[in-house]
This record gives sequence, C-alpha cells and structure tokens, in this order.
Amino acid sequence: MSNATPSNRGPSQSRIKRGFWSSRMAFVLAATGSAVGLGNIWKFPYITGENGGGAFVLVYLLCIAAVGLPIMMAEVLIGRRGGASPINSVRAIAKRDGHNPAWRLAAGLGVLTAFLILSFYSVIGGWAVSYVGTAATGQLAGQSADAIGEIFSGLLGSPWTLLMWHTLFMGLVMLVVARGLRKGLERAVTILMPALFVLLLVVVAYSMTTGYFGQGVAFLFSPDFSKLTTEGVLVALGHAFFTLSLGMAVMIAYGSYLSKDVSIAKTSILVSLMDTGVALLAGLAIFPIVFANGLEPGAGPGLIFQTLPLAFGAMPMGSLFATLFFVLLTFAAWTSGISLLEPLVEWLEEQKGLNRMVSTIGAGGLCWLLGVASILSLNLWSDVTPLGMFAMFEGKTIFDLLDFFTASVFLPLGGLLVAIFVGWIMTRQALQDELAMGSGTFSLWYNTLRYFTPVAVLVVFVYNLV
Ligand code: PFF
Repeated sequence: MSNATPSNRGPSQSRIKRGFWSSRMAFVLAATGSAVGLGNIWKFPYITGENGGGAFVLVYLLCIAAVGLPIMMAEVLIGRRGGASPINSVRAIAKRDGHNPAWRLAAGLGVLTAFLILSFYSVIGGWAVSYVGTAATGQLAGQSADAIGEIFSGLLGSPWTLLMWHTLFMGLVMLVVARGLRKGLERAVTILMPALFVLLLVVVAYSMTTGYFGQGVAFLFSPDFSKLTTEGVLVALGHAFFTLSLGMAVMIAYGSYLSKDVSIAKTSILVSLMDTGVALLAGLAIFPIVFANGLEPGAGPGLIFQTLPLAFGAMPMGSLFATLFFVLLTFAAWTSGISLLEPLVEWLEEQKGLNRMVSTIGAGGLCWLLGVASILSLNLWSDVTPLGMFAMFEGKTIFDLLDFFTASVFLPLGGLLVAIFVGWIMTRQALQDELAMGSGTFSLWYNTLRYFTPVAVLVVFVYNLV
C-alpha cells in the first residue's frame, strides 16, 4: 500500500493517516485472503456433507451470484465512498446526503459479528496449526481411518492443548494487526494464495486415483432436491456471506483503501470467483476420499481433519505434503482472522483515540477470552446448552450457538441492511459515480440489490425463524 494521502474521496473523519492499496491486484489479493479461509476448506465441505450434497451446492452457488456478489460490490462501494473505518464510512455518507447517521449501527452490527466469529474461528485456526505439528512429526503417515479419528477426538478432548493452539493463532492474528496490515498482508497473500491453490490441486489429483472421483463429483454436482431442507437453504445463504466475508464490514474496511480508478465490479467478480473456485476444489479433493474410505460425508466439523490425513498418509512423501497443506490452511485462516479483527481495531483507534497496539491488545484479548467458552464446549461443557429449552436450539453448545447466530442470523441481517442502505438510501448518482459501469449492467446490479437481494434474504430468514 502506498502512503499517498487520499485526495479524491468522500468525506473522511479519520484521524489516522490513510493510504491506498499499492495496486488493484493488492486489493484483490487482500480481499481474497479474507474470503478464502476455513470457510472454504473446512466449513464448505462439511456443511455440504451434512446437507446432502448437490442441491445444497446449487443453492449455495445461486446465493453467491445473486446475493453475495451484489452485496460485495455494495460494501466495497461504501468503503471507498466513505473513506474511513466501516462505522465512520457509513456515518459520513449518511450525513453528507442528509440521512440518519444511525445507519452506522448497521456497520456496528457487522463489527460485532466479526468479533464474535473470530472468537471461535481462532479455535478452529488452532486445530489447523496443531495439525502442522502432527503432520510434520509423521503421526499421520499410514494410519487407519480409526486411528486418525482418534487423533482428532483426542485433540478436541484436551482443553489445555486447544487453549495453547487458540492462543498461538490469536497471537499471530494480533501480531499482524498491531503492525498495521499494510506491511505484512499484501506480501503474504501474494505468495500464499497461489501456493494453497496448487496444493489443493495436488490433493484433487490424488482423489482422482482413489477410484471414487466420479462418486465425489456426483455428490457435489447432481442435485437431489429431496435432500434439501429449508434449514439447508438458510445455511447456504449464511455461508455465502461467511465465505465472501460479507455482512461484517470487512469489505467496507478494505474498500476504504481502494483507489478511484479501480473497477469495483470487476474486482468483486474476481474475488468471488476465486473464493468459489477454492471451495469447489476443496469439495473435489475431499469427497472422493470420504467415499473411498467408507467415511460419512455428514461427519460434521471434523470432516477435513479426518479425510485429508488419510489421503496424505497414503501418498509418497505424504508427511511433507500434509505438513505443507496444514501450513497453508493456517495461512488461509490467518489472513481471514486478520480481516476479522481489523474493523474493530480501526474503530477503536478512530473513535476512542487509542493507539493501534492498545486497540489490538484490548480487542484481541477479549476475543481470546470468549474463545475459551468455545473450547470448553468441545469437552468439559459439551452438555451445556444455554438455549436448550427452545426446541430449535436443543443440544446446541455455546460453540454451536455462536456459529448459528453469527453465520445464520447476524450475517444475513448485516447484508440486508447493507442492501437497503446502498439500494434505497444512497443516491443513485453516488452509486453510478463509484461503479462507473455501463447502464445495462448498472441497472442489473441496482435492481438485484434493491429488490431481489432483500426479498431473498427476508424470505429465507422468516421461513426459518417462524
Ligand atoms: N471468509 C472467511 C472464510 O471463508 O474462512 C471467514 C471470514 C473472514 C468471514 C472475514 C468474515 C470475515 F469478515
């Protein structure tokens, strides 16, 4: 990112010196670094498995194209127009155009959601870090599915081990955020994202040799609508937001560093395509291994930690590839974790006048503490179900509840508010200025955002909550 002082942007209330991404590619990589993470490689395969495969994938792809992409463009647009941290960007735009500055609360909801997500995201990030060690010491090589299952349940059963890895992961996130993400992030994603892609291709190539590739492809791509539930549709919608890092003010924050001459539409399409590509590759890598080893596609959150080690264990130089893979997964999770902490830290700096170091320690420390509740729900508190009295939440631990409320409730709600703010509150002229698209494509985006997106989110929401 260059240190150029912004001159051609909307009002900024920022007291910090702001800069721009050094190039369009830097923004694309940083946004992709945020989007591509555990959501693609850990969550997408296991929720696809739990929701029956093809039909779920189809709904998910539709949600990305018709809901996710228009909202991503809207978020980047708010950031670039506002030129400040998410909450202040929204406030600046609302104030300038004579609207209620309370709209900033919508961005506030996003910042809070990001904070809640990071608390458990860091615990899963910790799993990835711990598997780097497990793989590097050769513990996964040549093991049976049962033995690998035991390694995983052993990890979940030890709160102290989980705490150690969670602490390490959160520490890594705080380290980059405290230094200012401009320094390390751009360089890291430039190398790591392509490397992750290549390693995924290696696992897909292995999957092709299992003899079950066709079955994996069929599971992912032939829709059987009898397996799709309305909850599945909600999960798909929530995941579209989660995987693209939407509804959480992250893209607003990153958009605020984007220079005027970059096309918001093109870059958003590129980021969405790369994110979807990684998720589908992860599915293609994992499901053939699941079927080849008689595993259960609906095994839940442990899915990749039980399937991928099997694949690597059976390959020549498997320990090396496994180690590399988990290193890259850790990096993917790291770049996403950074983007989850950034909006709150930015806000604390701007609004409370704290310096970056203090803001990072305060926000990261609190998030770490909340993560402890998620760790305990995997073992000592596995019977604690705070909302268990409601049928809908029966058996859901604190971890499950955090996941449900953030991914399935707050994210779609945050996205809905963004769609309404940009589609109905901001002036059409402002949007046209920022997007600089042909009138046909502009109208397509505008109408999708105004009508289709809010209605789709509301329908799915209401259907599930009543
Ligand atoms: N998109 C990330 C993933 O798929 O793992 C998770 C994430 C990062 C969600 C940043 C939200 C966010 F703001």
